[in-house]
Amino acid sequence: MKHLLSTQDLSARNALRLLNVAEEMAAVGQREIKKLPALRGRTVVNLFFEDSTRTRISFEAAAKRLSADVINFAAKGSSVSKGESLKDTAQTLEAMSADAVVIRHPASGAPARLAASGWIDAAVVNAGDGTHEHPTQALLDAFTLRRHWAKLDGTPSAGTTLAGMKVLIVGDVLHSRVARSNVWLLTTLGAEVLLAGPPTLLPVGVGAWPCTVYYNLDDALAQRPDAVMMLRLQAERMNAAFFPSTREYSRRWGFDDGRLALLDTMGLDDTVIMHPGPMNRGLEISSAAADSPRSTVLAQVRNGVSVRMAALYLLLSGDSQDDPQDDQPENQADQPDQLATTPEGRTP
Ligand code: NCD
Repeated sequence: MKHLLSTQDLSARNALRLLNVAEEMAAVGQREIKKLPALRGRTVVNLFFEDSTRTRISFEAAAKRLSADVINFAAKGSSVSKGESLKDTAQTLEAMSADAVVIRHPASGAPARLAASGWIDAAVVNAGDGTHEHPTQALLDAFTLRRHWAKLDGTPSAGTTLAGMKVLIVGDVLHSRVARSNVWLLTTLGAEVLLAGPPTLLPVGVGAWPCTVYYNLDDALAQRPDAVMMLRLQAERMNAAFFPSTREYSRRWGFDDGRLALLDTMGLDDTVIMHPGPMNRGLEISSAAADSPRSTVLAQVRNGVSVRMAALYLLLSGDSQDDPQDDQPENQADQPDQLATTPEGRTP
């Protein structure tokens, strides 16, 4: 695994390795001194061509906890505004000896282009490209789900899959890279994925995805999901009217107070509510739902740092053998203690 570009081509084995190492990184986060020397002397560049709060600071925190040097680059206020190309920006970073480039770009495929271009040697991590993929978001969602699933089962989460879990993803699937990355990753890990949204906000070809599609949220909830992942309505990507009004959208597709109460009525005591953030409170999710004990929103943010530490560590430690043959969910990932040896010979 030289780069982390998508979850569609991530084997179950590599996904589990990432999640297992993330568990070890989470343990480091519990310590008083939350820092490891693993990436000392390495340089991680955050190359953000699109707005971001949590993903950018999460990658920054992850790199710093691994003792890497971090350079933050935002397109706004840089030479990109003067017309500089991705190639020239990349080569500038190469000249500064970047070891990893974390890139967010409005164009789907930009990270893959960077990885395949030969412009740079660095490992490329996709932090969200257009409407295509957002692999580390899906990994942190899977990590959060796996912890929940294992807790219900009374087993440790490291090594387990999501087999038997039913996850419902709701809303603006059309514009959502989070939904795409989650569909691929969660199914790879053995979960059953359900999608619900208005037909105008579901992509053409969704019928070929490995999930069941519902055009009515309450019908989908009647399937008794173990987790409901609400998507943000991505108004900035909409160039047409996809629904009559925000009021109608929130009534038909929002996780509102009525649907929150419905989970109790249905006896779905262990069903969690997820959202990648940023949330439009009162539109796709009500404040009561977002702040309820069922909400995993803040756990997702917390877990994001551990998952990104694992990704940077595995990509940069040179200890990330790919094994595409071995991609069955039931195959246990390598023992994290074998994977997580730092260059100094210490385990996190
Ligand atoms: C997501 C994104 O940027 O794709 N947010 C995030 O990374 N936390 C989802 C979104 O913007 O709705």
